[in-house]
Parts: sequence; structure tokens; C-alpha cells
Amino acid sequence: MIYLDNSATTKTHPDVISVMTDVMNNIYGNPSSLHGLGVKAERLVEQARRVIAKKLDCHPSEILFTSGGTEANNLAIKGVADQLQSRGRHLITTSVEHPSVFEVMKQLEEKGWKVTYLPVDSWGRVSPDAVEKALTDETVLVSIMHVNNEVGTIQPIHEIGQRLAKYPKILFHVDAVQSFAKIPLKPKQAGIDLLSVSAHKFHGPKGIGALYIRKNVEITPLLVGGGQERGFRSGTHHVPGIAGMAKAVVLTEQQTNFLARCQEWKESFLDHITSKLQPVLVNGDVTGEGTAPYIISLSFPGLKSEVLVHALEEEGVFVSSKSACSSKLETPSRVLKAMGRTDQEALSSIRISMGYDTTKEEIEQCAEALIRVVPKLQQVVKVR
Ligand SMILES: Cc1ncc(COP(=O)(O)O)c(C=O)c1O
Repeated sequence: MIYLDNSATTKTHPDVISVMTDVMNNIYGNPSSLHGLGVKAERLVEQARRVIAKKLDCHPSEILFTSGGTEANNLAIKGVADQLQSRGRHLITTSVEHPSVFEVMKQLEEKGWKVTYLPVDSWGRVSPDAVEKALTDETVLVSIMHVNNEVGTIQPIHEIGQRLAKYPKILFHVDAVQSFAKIPLKPKQAGIDLLSVSAHKFHGPKGIGALYIRKNVEITPLLVGGGQERGFRSGTHHVPGIAGMAKAVVLTEQQTNFLARCQEWKESFLDHITSKLQPVLVNGDVTGEGTAPYIISLSFPGLKSEVLVHALEEEGVFVSSKSACSSKLETPSRVLKAMGRTDQEALSSIRISMGYDTTKEEIEQCAEALIRVVPKLQQVVKVR
């Protein structure tokens, strides 16, 4: 089996599983308990917090554990909106965000908030000028993702952060779920106030993530109860998950050349595919700088994404049609439409995404499988 759906989720690293099993067997205390087993669990949680903080170059007290990227995004946006509503009720985001940002914005709109959804160019990029132009006296938050989950486009986060530095009252949230532990982004250097991460995108466990929240930024919690995580996020800590996430971060540090090797494989993959198959469109900027090299998005106009995904599966290759969360909906990808693709182009896309365990041979075999499968499917469409 060739697994190339790493943007949906990654295979949990065996060392992460060992750490989690050990915690479940031996350090099962509640970190809030006063006895020794509780203290051990608490130490583990704090150690993990330091690991995540080090990666983001921030203070450990600026890291909150959540149940994943969706909760981190909801907490950041709803938490800021609730906290700052007396100052203004305007939010800015883009038209290509993950549903865990996009749908939150829609919900807030229903509650009377004004939301600006900024357009993107044909590579899926938002312009820092457009962000600045959209600011009003009512704006309290700008939320823009780092790496797009469908096409891999990298947003100009540093440039946007620089613009926003002139407006210190406006907070900046970044959904870094697809980039954390892969493409460096330090919140303080980039002028970011809140940043979301999720462990299962980098070979950690599912159901655990974190939100960076800059010191002195106040947000209203989504979950109240026992007051864990300094009152920002009540609920007994998912200690095995937290320890597993920290282990996954440490393991990523042993990886060398991840981005460079993905870039090289992506380039030869695209050269090969575009020379052998027609029509094919590459979604996003393929020149290197503008797109995460571990995500490849292609459209084969005339073919249906689902049909392609299943045909590839029969060849032993697992990829996605657009993003995992929306791949069961037979609607054209909102992201590709925002980038100017037609319905037909947007309905014929597949996403190939690499993880730390992906090999060059797997990418080559995926290309060969596509070269076998696509002409056959095109023939079927032609005779129909
Ligand atoms: C960009 C982005 N944000 C947020 C999420 C949600 O993260 P989680 O699955 O941990 O809830 C995802 C997951 O696909 C994502 O790709």
C-alpha cells in the first residue's frame, strides 16, 4: 500500500505509540491530583508544553492543549470574538480557510458579526495589501492559515504580521495545522497572537492539539469546568495524547531535508505527469517558494475526483479528492473555485500529500499508477 494522504492524517510513529502505551499503563494519574501519580502526570504535561513552546520559540505558559486543530481554531476565533465584542464586531479571513475557521466565521455572521472573506489569486494566495485595506475601526481579529490543506499554498504570514503590527489592538490568528513541525513559523517573529496546531498531521496521535496564545491576550473559554489550562480550557488532560504529541515533535527534529526532498520529488513527479498526461492542471504555485512541497494538487478536467481516487486505490495508492473533511461532498472545492478554477476543474482534483515516512519510490509509483489509470478513465468518458 502506498499512503499519500498525509494532509488528511499521518501514520502514528511507533515511538509515539510506545510513549502513549507507557503513559496509559504507568502514568495514568490525573495531573490535577495531589498524589505522586498525579504529580508524575503533571510533570509529563509540563514537559510536553516545554517541547511545543520550544518549537514555537515562545514561553510554555503561552501553550494551551486542546483536542486538536478544530478546537484550537474555534477557541481562538470564538474566544477572541466574545472577549472583544464591545470594541468592534468585524473579523477578517480568507475564502480558502479550513472549515474549522470558515464555518466558525459563518456562525459568527449569523450572530451579527461582519466578516470579510478576502479573495485569493490563482495560486491561492491572499495579498497583504488587501488585508490592510480591509481593516476597519471595528476589526478585532484577522485569521489566516499558514499552509492551505487542499493545495499547499503558503500565505505571506510574515508580511501580514508586519502590516498588522501597526494596529496593536487587532489580534492575528494563524491556523498552522498543515505547517507546524514542517515549515518553521515563530509567532513572535511573525507578529502572531494566536496559532493552532494538531498532532495527527505530523505522525502524532489524533485528538490532541495546541493553541499558542500570546501572553496578555485574553480569550473567553469554550469549555468551562475544572479550570485546567489556566481556565482557558477545562477538562482532564489527555495525558497520553499530550506526551505522544511531544514525542512526535521531537521525532520531527531528527528529520533532515524533508522540505528539500519533497520539493525534488514533487518537481520530477510533475514533470513526468505533465509530459505523459493531458489535460492536467497543477493547482497552486509549483515554482517552490509559494507552495508547501509535501502537497500536490492536480485537476484532470473531464474526470471525477472520486472515480480517480478509487481507481488509484485499486492500484494500491491512497490519495484524496480535495480535503478529507469535504471529500464526501459532491460539490466543487470552495478553495479551487476561489482560485479561479471552473466547476469542472474543481470537481476533478486530487491531492497527493507526503509525510515524513514517504519515499521517493512511492512518489514514482504513484506517478506510474496515474499514467496507467488516467487514459483508461478518459477513454471510458469518451465512449459514454
Ligand atoms: C488547515 C487545517 N486546519 C484545521 C484542521 C483541523 O484539525 P483537526 O483534525 O486536528 O481537528 C485541519 C485538518 O485537516 C487542517 O488541515
